[in-house]
Amino acid sequence: METTENILICKCKKVTLADIENALHDHTSLSDVENEFRHVQEVTHCSTGCGGCHDKIMDVISSIISG
Ligand code: FES
Repeated sequence: METTENILICKCKKVTLADIENALHDHTSLSDVENEFRHVQEVTHCSTGCGGCHDKIMDVISSIISG
């Protein structure tokens, strides 16, 4: 079985799917994708390099928020 934990979402900052999930889970109100993106970015520094992962991160966050 493939593990999703180690999927690299942001190559520049070496941020994995698990890192993003962890950053979201210490936040209580998972409501607004833009807000959550800023929070995840502060915690993990994802999307502060080339920015090419931005859309991928937004997708990950919205799928986590929507369950
Ligand atoms: S891959 Fe995330 S900033 Fe470049």
